[in-house]
Amino acid sequence: MTGSGDIMTPPLSADEAAHSGAVAALIRAEVRCAGGWLSFERFMALALYAPGLGYYSAGSVKIGAGGDFVTAPELSDLFSRCVAGPCAEVLEGGGEILELGAGTGRMAAAVLTELGARGRLPRRYAILEVSADLAERQRRRIAALPAALAERVVWLERLPERPVHGVILANEVLDALPCRRFTLEGGVIRELGVALQGERIIEQSAPADAALSAEWERLREQLPAPLADGYVSEIALRVAPWLAGVAGCLERGVALLFDYGLPRAHYYHPQRRTGTLRCHFKHRVHDDPYVNLGVQDITAWVDFTRVAQAALECGLEVTGFATQAAFLLATGIERFIAEADGPVERARRAGEARRLLLPGEMGEAFKVMALTRDFGRPLSGFALQDLRGSL
Ligand SMILES: C[S@@+](CC[C@H](N)C(=O)[O-])C[C@H]1O[C@@H](n2cnc3c(N)ncnc32)[C@H](O)[C@@H]1O
Repeated sequence: MTGSGDIMTPPLSADEAAHSGAVAALIRAEVRCAGGWLSFERFMALALYAPGLGYYSAGSVKIGAGGDFVTAPELSDLFSRCVAGPCAEVLEGGGEILELGAGTGRMAAAVLTELGARGRLPRRYAILEVSADLAERQRRRIAALPAALAERVVWLERLPERPVHGVILANEVLDALPCRRFTLEGGVIRELGVALQGERIIEQSAPADAALSAEWERLREQLPAPLADGYVSEIALRVAPWLAGVAGCLERGVALLFDYGLPRAHYYHPQRRTGTLRCHFKHRVHDDPYVNLGVQDITAWVDFTRVAQAALECGLEVTGFATQAAFLLATGIERFIAEADGPVERARRAGEARRLLLPGEMGEAFKVMALTRDFGRPLSGFALQDLRGSL
């Protein structure tokens, strides 16, 4: 089986086609090198992060109006001003912020601006970004801030060795971690990956390896209903090591993770037969990861039960889980709209808030999870809703 190839996405420019051809050549070479088959996880890692070629490693616009997708902090600074609320609560006694995967740096700039206005600036605002191209855009944006804010921002090459006291932020990072894909055949799990048919990259299944099989056995015991043959979905084995890294550096404070996702019972619902994988290309969403290689984003929804379990194993507490809408309402989005200078600005903010809040937009699909260590106080963002029972 292969990607349909006839999805309705805009045609590639000559540069995009050339770039995509180079990524395809790299993937073909890896498939041959690996003996004819690569796991989907490895395919996704190459398509997104291959040095100099992957979607996040190379220079396409990616985020924002001229790119492929818009995230909440790009849509409106109202989002980041709300995020600054719980940050201020944690930073009451001093401390720092570490942001993972900061995109264009817009959230960093807006959170710092809001914290500055509240007199709660962090000692430093560290950014860990795997994309050299995005890190460069972040530097340009931060350089335009007043010096009192900009001088607090540093870029890290890896997670900090000294312990973080404060806040760790990650918006839409978990969904960008390469994931495994599987299907069921005769009740047995098989792993999806890619192989070659001549020069064509096609999807092909193979026996699941020990790690995926063991995870499937654990997972299926927790599902409320059996899944039928032909069912396809994702398992993000990289969540646990990613979270272990985050937990390892959080000595006291809160990690706030924002992403689209579901509790496990909904994620692996029998009717969600084709999984959660989505591709973003020039603001069109589709589900064919085998086209537009290296010039489109590939993401999978987040199984928040997996995140919570991995956090508990690392000694973190799950202290909050709510929809983005409930989080933003609890952190004062309505006040930020009401405070606008004049009716035009108020109407603009109200329009942005609708996209952040409405169930058919980002309000329900996006969730916020708070993971804490040695931090006992309640966080304002979770005052209106507690979805932890659904995990
Ligand atoms: C979908 S974008 C979201 C960007 C930004 N947070 C926003 O909301 O606009 C995913 C971001 O995560 C970064 N990223 C992916 N894997 C990462 C990792 N393991 N550690 C840190 N950043 C990562 C990407 O380079 C990119 O900046």
